Amino acid sequence: MYKIGTIPGDGTGPEVTDEAMKVLAAVAQKNEIDYDVVEYDIGGERYKRTGEILPDSVRDELGTLDAAFLGAIGHPDVTPGILEKGILLTLRFHYEMYINLRPVKLFPGVWTPIKDKGPEDIDFVVVRENTEGIYKGLGEFQHKGTPDEIAIQISENSRKGVERCIRYAFDLAQTRDRKELTLVGKTNVLTYAMDLWERTFHEVGEEYPDIKLDYAHVDATCMWMVKNPEWFDVIVTDNLFGDIITDLAAMIQGGLGIAAGGNIRPDGFSMFEPMGGSAPKYAGQGVINPLAAIGAMGMMLDFLGEKTAAKQVENAIVSVTSEKIHSLSAGRMGYSTSEVGDLVTSYL
Ligand code: IPM
Ligand code: MN
Repeated sequence: MYKIGTIPGDGTGPEVTDEAMKVLAAVAQKNEIDYDVVEYDIGGERYKRTGEILPDSVRDELGTLDAAFLGAIGHPDVTPGILEKGILLTLRFHYEMYINLRPVKLFPGVWTPIKDKGPEDIDFVVVRENTEGIYKGLGEFQHKGTPDEIAIQISENSRKGVERCIRYAFDLAQTRDRKELTLVGKTNVLTYAMDLWERTFHEVGEEYPDIKLDYAHVDATCMWMVKNPEWFDVIVTDNLFGDIITDLAAMIQGGLGIAAGGNIRPDGFSMFEPMGGSAPKYAGQGVINPLAAIGAMGMMLDFLGEKTAAKQVENAIVSVTSEKIHSLSAGRMGYSTSEVGDLVTSYL
C-alpha cells in the first residue's frame, strides 16, 4: 500500500493534479496497485489566508510518505521567491532530493519549433543536481546601498554531492540503449566548481567502461540542443545550469504542457511535478494541458518500482498526442483539461 501525498497548490495546479490522480486511479486499478492519497493545502492561498508557508508538521508528515505529487506553486499576490524558497527549495534540501530528473522526449504528433527534427532526434534526459551549487544561497552584501556595493553569490559543490549526482547519471545511462553521458559545465571559467565536477566525472566514469563520456560547455549546449538535439542521450549538470537548460529543453519537446520532472532522493522521499508554473491567468477555466502532470505521475510510478504501470501511462500519453490532440497549448487543445485526462484514461 503506497502512501502518496498531493500538493495541488496554486493557479492551475489543482486542475492538473485532479487529472493526474484520475489517471493514477485508472492505472492502479488495472495493475492492482493499492494506494492512499493525502492532500496537503500548501501554497499561495494558504499563505495569504494564514501566513503559513510550510508548517513543520506538514514538512515532517510528507517525509513519512512514499512519494508526493506537486501541482504548482506560485501566486500573483505573493512576492516572487517566498513560496519557491519556502516550499519547493526547502523540501528539496530538507529531504535531500538530490536529483532533478527531466526527461526530454518529443512524443509523436507533438509540434517542435526545431525544423526537420522528429521524435527520433529528441530523446534525452537531463540529470540536474538539486541540492547544491548556487541554490545553497551562500553569499553576502558588502557596503550594501552604497556606490561601493558588492554582492557575492557562492556556488558550493561538495565532492559527495557531486559524486552522488554523477553516479545516478551513470546508472541511468547504463539503462539506456545509447549509453552516452555528457557532462555539461563551464570548465573554461568556473575553474573551481567545474574542476571538481570534471575530475569526479572521469573518476566515476572509470567504473563504467560501457558508457561513452562526453563534455560540453553550457553555452554550447544551448546551441546544440537547438541545432543537433540528437547528439544528447543523458546529460548531467549542476543545479543552475540544469535549471536553465531544462527550460530550453522543455520547449524543444513541445512546451510546458508536456514537460514533467521529479525531485528524487533515490532511497527516500521524492516529489514529482509538471515543469510548468501555476499559470494564474488560466486558472479555473479547464483549458490547461494536464499531460505534463500525468507524465510526472507516471514518473512517480516508475520511481515507486511500478515499471509496467509507468510504461502504460507513457504509452497512453503517446496515443493521445499522436491520435488526438495536436496542439499542447492552453486553450488550443480542442479538448478541456478533464477531457484530456479522460482520453489518457480511455487509452489505458
Ligand atoms: C524549477 C523552478 C525552480 C528552480 C524555482 C521555482 C525556484 O524554476 O523547478 O526549475 O529554479 O529550481
Ligand atoms: Mn526552472
